[in-house]
Amino acid sequence: MEVIIVDSPKLVAERAADEIEGQVEAKSDAVLGLATGSTPLRLYKEISTRAAQNSLSYKSVTTFNLDEYIGLSASDPRSYRFYMDQRLFSNIDIETANTHVPSCALTEDPQEVCEQYEASIARAGGIDLQVLGIGTNGHIGFNEPSSSLSSLTRVKTLTDRTVRDNRRLFADNEFQPRLAITMGIQTISNATRVLLLATGKRKAAAVSAAIEGPVTAMCPASALQFHRNVTFIIDSAAASELKQADYYRWVEQAKQDLALSRHRALD
Ligand code: F6R
Repeated sequence: MEVIIVDSPKLVAERAADEIEGQVEAKSDAVLGLATGSTPLRLYKEISTRAAQNSLSYKSVTTFNLDEYIGLSASDPRSYRFYMDQRLFSNIDIETANTHVPSCALTEDPQEVCEQYEASIARAGGIDLQVLGIGTNGHIGFNEPSSSLSSLTRVKTLTDRTVRDNRRLFADNEFQPRLAITMGIQTISNATRVLLLATGKRKAAAVSAAIEGPVTAMCPASALQFHRNVTFIIDSAAASELKQADYYRWVEQAKQDLALSRHRALD
């Protein structure tokens, strides 16, 4: 696992944007897995700003979002489809038809929708780069503690803690769904590369459990310890409970020094 600790949420967004741009430069028809929530807001802003300034095209890129509430339509401003359209898709030249959010209308069979979502990811050739946030309870996607580590896309009931954490997005007395469709932990783990972003002190305990704790269904993000190509990009507040923080910083510095000396040798 690679752990990159930077000084601010702004730098987390910039590092993550570098990774996404690098992926799309290397493979113009890349398949990206995307997250919503507060954490990637800066990232999407950064990608949108860069897209307006450079010539990188997302025309052939396909995206799959991690999750969506059941009971909110795509036009509902609190739905994750609405969020993605507003925050990212309308700002880059991606084809709307290539963007997928696992929505389930009340008339549809959720099981069927979930199976279809898995099938679409497989048809696209699998996810090249998956972006994740992390819940204060260690969830990834909406895989709440006690989720099966080999779960696929399915319906999950949100815990009280997640409902409380996301309450800020809903007005008082407004309907807040407790059910969501989410990619499973296995679906996420199947991605070729995974980037987990975390910022702020309130994520510090979850981040330390995910990176340095035991692998357990009680911290779904800890399943990433099995992944061969996962990078945590976190700010110093989110890193504040890591026992080995100095070691991760040292490794990152050594990598940068090595890259610099290689670059100089080639000049
Ligand atoms: C959102 C998602 C969730 C969030 C997590 C953190 O698509 O899958 O796992 O990443 O709840 O949310 P924020 O970033 O709002 O703290």
